[in-house]
Amino acid sequence: MAGPPRPLCVPGVGRSPWAGNNGAPCARGRSHSSLGACPRAAAGPLGCEGGPAGDHTPARRIGSTVSENSTAPDSRAERDRTTPIPARDRGEPRFPGGPAADPAGSHHERRIRSFRPRRGRVTPGQGEALRRLWPQWGLDIDGLHRLDLGKLFGDPDLPVVLEIGFGMGEATARMAAADPGTGILAVDVHTPGQGNLLALAERDGLSNVRVANGDAIILLREMLTPASLAGLRVYFPDPWPKKRHHKRRLLQPEFVELAATRLRPGALLHCATDWEPYAEQMLEVLTASPSFDNTQPDGGYSPRPGFRPLTKFESQGLDKGHIVHDLIFRRNEA
Ligand SMILES: C[S@@+](CC[C@H](N)C(=O)[O-])C[C@H]1O[C@@H](n2cnc3c(N)ncnc32)[C@H](O)[C@@H]1O
Repeated sequence: MAGPPRPLCVPGVGRSPWAGNNGAPCARGRSHSSLGACPRAAAGPLGCEGGPAGDHTPARRIGSTVSENSTAPDSRAERDRTTPIPARDRGEPRFPGGPAADPAGSHHERRIRSFRPRRGRVTPGQGEALRRLWPQWGLDIDGLHRLDLGKLFGDPDLPVVLEIGFGMGEATARMAAADPGTGILAVDVHTPGQGNLLALAERDGLSNVRVANGDAIILLREMLTPASLAGLRVYFPDPWPKKRHHKRRLLQPEFVELAATRLRPGALLHCATDWEPYAEQMLEVLTASPSFDNTQPDGGYSPRPGFRPLTKFESQGLDKGHIVHDLIFRRNEA
């Protein structure tokens, strides 16, 4: 990749729950958002230097709490500028030879996240797959460089679909096997699932799967270039049923508009959930988005498409008598 790594800023998207520091100014009066349109002329919230919209030069690593342009006199700011950000010290360290616990240092961003970090128990088979295959097929979401998806998949013409939250990856592997002409960039924070998907990909000879480790928001926001995706799949995202947790739900207007910037016109955004209130929220948010059109002429839910296999969470929901809803929206030219 030419030149130094350069995080992106998404033009035209205001403060949001996905922005650093929850979009709010920090104690020093600075917004940490990199999702905004670089509201500061000289230096954007991620230390962007202005320049063409959507392509800004970083001045600091994701998660640091102070921009390098800071002149704040307090000693903590000084320390933040001079001390490298440590790897996450709570929880487990980097999986040996495999994915890091928090590659972007995103826990330094004080924003609401749609997941609880879960490393879980890694079986010997998953661990072996992680150690052996991660260097070849794994991608740490460090937020520090833009991805060339053609290089990542070894084929500049391969359309690439992003799947957020693949869980244990069985459905991902089946979709990849059924459609070798599409690359699947599968992202999750769940280490056992990453090992499982790598093992499945090797077992089934799937050269069209790449496994990304970390927060999908940072992947979209910092590493994927505009209009680079041929599709986005979000199958059974965590429903966060309690009212006080609704803010953690992934499918919110800010997320949808961020995703829109990374999808090319005509690309499909496909969501599925077995949680009725979340399905209603998804339908409302997607219908209200100026960037997407419902593929259903009646403006409702879609019939389950044949290409979506039964997922693990879906089958658990069905066992509980839940009704599953699919939503398929098309990125328009707007
Ligand atoms: C309820 S599970 C569903 C897994 C799978 N799609 C299925 O249906 O079996 C949701 C998954 O999304 C992942 N997830 C949630 N928010 C995420 C984010 N911002 N970035 C990456 N993964 C995320 C969680 O770690 C979890 O594995």
